[in-house]
Amino acid sequence: MLRPPASIIIAGTGSYLPEKVVTNDDMARLVETSDEWIRTRTGIRERHFAAEGETTSDMATAAANKAIAAAGIAREEIDLIVVATMTPDMPFPSTACLVQAKVGLGNVTAFDVQAACSGYVYALNIASSMLQSGAYKNALVIGAEKTSPILDFQDRTTCVLFGDGASAAVLSTSAQPGVGILGSIGGADGSNPELLYQPGGGTAIPASVDSIDARQHFLKMNGKEIFKLAVRVMEQASLQILDQHGLTTKDVALFIPHQANMRIIESLAKRMKVPLERFHNNLDRCGNTSAASVGIALDEAFRQGRIQSGDLVLLVAFGAGLTWGASLVKWH
Ligand code: ACO
Repeated sequence: MLRPPASIIIAGTGSYLPEKVVTNDDMARLVETSDEWIRTRTGIRERHFAAEGETTSDMATAAANKAIAAAGIAREEIDLIVVATMTPDMPFPSTACLVQAKVGLGNVTAFDVQAACSGYVYALNIASSMLQSGAYKNALVIGAEKTSPILDFQDRTTCVLFGDGASAAVLSTSAQPGVGILGSIGGADGSNPELLYQPGGGTAIPASVDSIDARQHFLKMNGKEIFKLAVRVMEQASLQILDQHGLTTKDVALFIPHQANMRIIESLAKRMKVPLERFHNNLDRCGNTSAASVGIALDEAFRQGRIQSGDLVLLVAFGAGLTWGASLVKWH
């Protein structure tokens, strides 16, 4: 008989950024832009781009190995892998299957989640529910993204915003009640998919010479609309999950928001009347790493000592879809 655990904790985190750093000045050599424009409009100073041949699953594997080491468990103890990505190595098989082999795990349940930049929070939600059922003991949750191949380096409004990277967390069942992932929520509104999308390469517009000539295999975005929606949905998701647990923003030690634009984070902090210091950010060094972003920020905040035992941490994200999600974690 399955026995639900008392709680699900984040037993260890890890992240990986590729070696190659691309500064705003480097971007200004590719498109008509400037360090000043990018910095003041987004907070980004530089981002990392994966090497040629370095895949999403390679970056995911590097982050996963660090998370497993931090959790201090044997890889044989992992029985579930969920990878959030919108830039898989290939349409199929899933990146999670490739990671299973590369990390050297057993023949465990492995699948991908596609919720764009909300992917890490969606994956945490799914994996923690599967652990809560009692059917699994230790899950590897990964957010990994190689955005650089889908960026249009003829479109200055999008190509300066994104970067590559990966993050991972080991979720484990625990007998200690009242700690770990207290809850997660998610939402989606698919009525305007073209606000942020990659039109070509799927079944709607299969890859062809014409689709490539029309640059349809690159990311397209209505930045202004996404900006407004991002602030609204992240505020709503944060307040909703706090309300569900009878808590307020004052109870939260640290907010880990999706890293898309510093001005989005500033607007969110202002609307929620929370000092900006309680929002972790690394946009200046990473840009927007999509599904990897929340996990990279979480790993960084923990390793910098910004998260202590007993702290309440709120993860919140939005992404293409539009999708959004939030997770509330009481650090064990
Ligand atoms: N360098 C120089 N000028 C630029 C650049 C650039 N890189 N990009 C745009 N501009 C120009 C525009 O062409 C425009 O010029 P014009 O007035 O002559 O037409 C001017 O700058 C202002 O452009 P806006 O679009 O009004 O600039 P805005 O202040 O809105 O900032 C930005 C644009 C940074 C994209 C902002 O809207 C934003 O961050 N939106 C949210 C994007 C986001 O978060 N996306 C990720 C979603 S998550 C996911 O799921 C992948």
